[in-house]
Amino acid sequence: MADERIANAYSANAEFWIRVVREDRDPFRTRLTDPALLDMIGDCAGQVVLDAGCGEGYFARELVRRGARQVHGVDTCPEFVVAARTHPDHDPAATTYRVADVADLPLAGASVDLVVANRLPHGIDEPGRRFHEFARVLKPSGRLILLGMHPCFYVSRAERAAPGGLSLDSYFGTRTVEQRFEVQGELSPAASVQQFYSLETYFAFLADAGFAVTALREPHPTQAERDSDPWWNKNFTRPLFLLLECRPYRSPRAAG
Ligand SMILES: C[S@@+](CC[C@H](N)C(=O)[O-])C[C@H]1O[C@@H](n2cnc3c(N)ncnc32)[C@H](O)[C@@H]1O
Repeated sequence: MADERIANAYSANAEFWIRVVREDRDPFRTRLTDPALLDMIGDCAGQVVLDAGCGEGYFARELVRRGARQVHGVDTCPEFVVAARTHPDHDPAATTYRVADVADLPLAGASVDLVVANRLPHGIDEPGRRFHEFARVLKPSGRLILLGMHPCFYVSRAERAAPGGLSLDSYFGTRTVEQRFEVQGELSPAASVQQFYSLETYFAFLADAGFAVTALREPHPTQAERDSDPWWNKNFTRPLFLLLECRPYRSPRAAG
């Protein structure tokens, strides 16, 4: 079942997000997380890829440009899927876009070389199920690459303003951040809904689905970048992103 609160929030903000992405308005994305993701993915030539929560499709288009044989984009928000399918650079021979939930993928088992989840919000309903689905569609030699907000350091404006910041109860509980997104001084029209889990819970979801984490990065500007552009010191004051590479290493059913 789709996480309706998350889906409704994305529909309400679809036009905003499409503009932010297509006009390269988010420096975190263009200068930090996209280069880190592409570096971790490496050579994707000839691969079959799932872009999980593909949004308006820019990352799928980039992977096709880099030689991916087939990219399947899925997203619960129909507005994004329409935008992806109607983009002038959409290549229908190499890309499919479907309205679908990542917890119930319209793909055959063991058919995908790489699953990329680029800022896919964590699930609210049955949060671990998507990882089992990723394990199902991946070939045994495949990889899952997850980029998300850093669960240890990313805090809402309210949490930032609270005395002591993020509380232990909040961190180890199930944390819902519901607030409008700010990109270059412009606020999203509606609040987005994000769910956060502690690092140990997040890793337990992955382990239960049979994944081992094989690389962990925290994309951040270098000292030289911070020295040469004061924008970073104002806007990157704590680690904001967590990037994981995971590989199937045992059957999900054997997870305990
Ligand atoms: C922050 S946006 C990122 C979109 C795109 N990956 C990008 O980086 O531009 C998160 C996307 O995940 C989609 N999404 C949220 N929950 C989903 C789910 N359960 N299944 C599929 N897509 C989902 C949203 O509709 C939205 O397009």
